[in-house]
Amino acid sequence: MADPSERFPSDFVWGAATSSYQIEGAVDADGRGPSIWDDFCKVPGAISDGSDGAVACDHYHRMPEDVGLMAELGLQAYRFSVAWPRVLPQGRGPVNGPGLDFYDRLVDRLLAADIAPWITLYHWDLPSALQAEGGWVSRSTAEAFADYARVVAERLGDRVRHWTTHNEPWCASALGHLEGVHAPGIKSQHAHVASGHHLLLSHGLAVPVIRAAVPDARVGITLNLVPAEPASSSEADRDATERFDGWFNRWYLDPLRGRGYPNDMLARYRAERYIDDWSFIRPGDMETIAAPTDFLGVNYYTRAIIRSHTVPEALNGAPTVVAEGTPTDMGWEVYPDGLRQLLERVHRDYGPWPLYVTENGAAYATGPDADGRIADHARTAYLEGHIAACQAALRAGVPLKGYFAWSLMDNFEWAHGYEKRFGLVWVDYATQQRTPKDSALWYRDVIARGGLP
Ligand code: FCB
Repeated sequence: MADPSERFPSDFVWGAATSSYQIEGAVDADGRGPSIWDDFCKVPGAISDGSDGAVACDHYHRMPEDVGLMAELGLQAYRFSVAWPRVLPQGRGPVNGPGLDFYDRLVDRLLAADIAPWITLYHWDLPSALQAEGGWVSRSTAEAFADYARVVAERLGDRVRHWTTHNEPWCASALGHLEGVHAPGIKSQHAHVASGHHLLLSHGLAVPVIRAAVPDARVGITLNLVPAEPASSSEADRDATERFDGWFNRWYLDPLRGRGYPNDMLARYRAERYIDDWSFIRPGDMETIAAPTDFLGVNYYTRAIIRSHTVPEALNGAPTVVAEGTPTDMGWEVYPDGLRQLLERVHRDYGPWPLYVTENGAAYATGPDADGRIADHARTAYLEGHIAACQAALRAGVPLKGYFAWSLMDNFEWAHGYEKRFGLVWVDYATQQRTPKDSALWYRDVIARGGLP
């Protein structure tokens, strides 16, 4: 066992992440157009507490204060997403200057505080106008995305070096178009596969566009990956695990690395007639998707333990067994070693590829005590375990370059509304007051020390 107090490489990047719809609020401000999340939140029952992102953390109006918080924590990088409908209210066409100005001010503030801005171009808030034309099921959205990427890169590329095209295309495709639990709330096998393809295609179209606008850009994509293991050694459980891995992980990793969609998954889908029409995959698309990237962002929260009888009938339900131990408020198992396993696997099967953990964190409701202190020990323990897993991966030779905690502050957790709190910083939604939790102060010390205590 190595010494846990060992330091991380001196150029290792320590950061925290958020996304536009989850924190900004101000949905009508300065010419922002509607997004599919504004629309989805209006669907009765879609959001468990009936809330929406209309105000959220009001970050749009409190951005200077929030950058001040980041500086207090000593963050070296801040991963945020740009709201496409602020920049292009109709999804394409006329640029909304005031919307783009917000990100310009944010970037300047960050740089003044010595915090590196890490931009994600798409964290799920598609302009509603594009959804009206079919959204990600339609190829034209992928083309519109490349134009949007150009607008943002041309404006901010003189100051922003790290560019991520997409956050978690699996979620946008499977949760949004198959399970219907995220915007746009579609439940269709065709929409599932077609949206996934167009998300990947849009990534491939945007990579050269960003490079053309930003000569020294580091361009990548972020995937949420889930290491899976069978619930038993039975042939059926092992097969179901292979399928889960193909559906969740390899479906995105393989094409990004120039291998096309996994053959075993294509064979399964064809045998089942999962979809009938594959014509949305056009000649040349797989080459476009395989555009070389500078890094992969990995979002890790938990693992999956797979039991066969849920597959394939409920392939897309919850094909997992609940593990032992106390889960987080999301019901997710705390399994830090899964992060080490995952990073080693991605490196072994898909490297060389510089890796960053672009999200990792836990939902716990712990709030202020009588003295106003937020003693969220469980979150600190979660972060500590996972940062130790990063250290173990580094020791095993994985080119891991940074770690971003999810999330800087409590925020709108999609279909769970405000009921799940992932923040290092507590947000009192009635007053919008921010209070760093104990975990934030602990993380500040980790950053200052360049490693675990
Ligand atoms: C990820 C999302 C992020 C947040 C965390 C908990 O899937 O990227 O927005 O919801 O999960």
